[in-house]
Amino acid sequence: MAPNREKIILKIENMTVRYGPIFALKKVNLKIAQGEIVVLIGSNGAGKSTLLKSIIGLEKPTEGHIIYQEKEISLWGPDHITRFGIFLIPEDGGIFRTLTVEENLQLGAYHFFSQYQERIEVVIKLFPVLKERLKQVAGTLSGGEQRVLAFGKALMSNSRILMLDEPSIGLSPKYIVQIFETIQALNQRGYTILLAEQNVIQASKYANRIYVLENGQIVLNGNASDLRNHPRIKEAYFGS
Ligand SMILES: Nc1ncnc2c1ncn2[C@@H]1O[C@H](COP(=O)(O)OP(=O)(O)OP(=O)(O)O)[C@@H](O)[C@H]1O
Ligand SMILES: [Mg+2]
Repeated sequence: MAPNREKIILKIENMTVRYGPIFALKKVNLKIAQGEIVVLIGSNGAGKSTLLKSIIGLEKPTEGHIIYQEKEISLWGPDHITRFGIFLIPEDGGIFRTLTVEENLQLGAYHFFSQYQERIEVVIKLFPVLKERLKQVAGTLSGGEQRVLAFGKALMSNSRILMLDEPSIGLSPKYIVQIFETIQALNQRGYTILLAEQNVIQASKYANRIYVLENGQIVLNGNASDLRNHPRIKEAYFGS
C-alpha cells in the first residue's frame, strides 16, 4: 500500500519515559503516516522496546503526548489501546506456550469474538502452516513457526497499526527474509507498521522511513533510501 503522507495516524510529542532514576527515553518525537513501514533502529539499551511499550500503554510517559487518530492515549491501558487498533508483538512473540495454536488465536480475537470465524479463515489462508497445527501446543512449534503464530494472533484482533519488537532476532537468514516479506505483505493489506530492529540491512530494504535511537534520544530520522547511505548509519551498522 502506498503510504498516505498527509494522514498522520500516530504522533509522539516530547515523550520522556523513566524507570526510577533512569531516563529510558528523552523528549522523543515521532510521526507515522497511514500505510507506512517505519523502522526504529538502535543498539542494545537504546530504548526501542520502551518506546513500543509506551505506545501500547505498558509504560507511562512522565512527560509528553501520544496521539493516535487524534486522541491522546498516553494514559490509556494496554487493553483499551489494543481495542482501539494498535497491536504489539513483543520480542518473545507474546504467545502462550502451554496453550494450543487455536487457543492462542482465540485469545488474539478476545475483544472481537463475533468476528472470530471470519478472521481465522483469513489468518489460515495467509499462514497455511497454522492450519494443520491448530490442536498442537504452541510451545512445541519450531521457533520460526512460533513467530508465524505471533503474526496470526496479532491479525485476529482488528488492529490497524502493527508494532513488532525485533521480529528477526534468533532466526536463520532464510526465515528472516520470510518474516520481512510477511511484514511487507501485511503492509500491502493495509497495516501500518512500526518495527524495532537491529538487523538494519534487512529492515532498511523494506522501510519507508527510519528513526535512529541512541541513549533514549532520536538522533537521526528520514527516508530509508536516504539514510541507508548516511555516513553515521554506514559506520554504525554496515561496518564501513
Ligand atoms: N523495567 C525496567 N526497569 C529499569 N530499567 C529498565 C527497565 N526496562 C528497561 N530499562 C532500561 O531502559 C533502557 C532502555 O531499554 P530498552 O529495553 O527499551 O532498550 P532496547 O533498545 O529495546 O534494547 P535491546 O535492543 O537490548 O532490546 C536501558 O538502559 C534499560 O536498562
Ligand atoms: Mg528491546
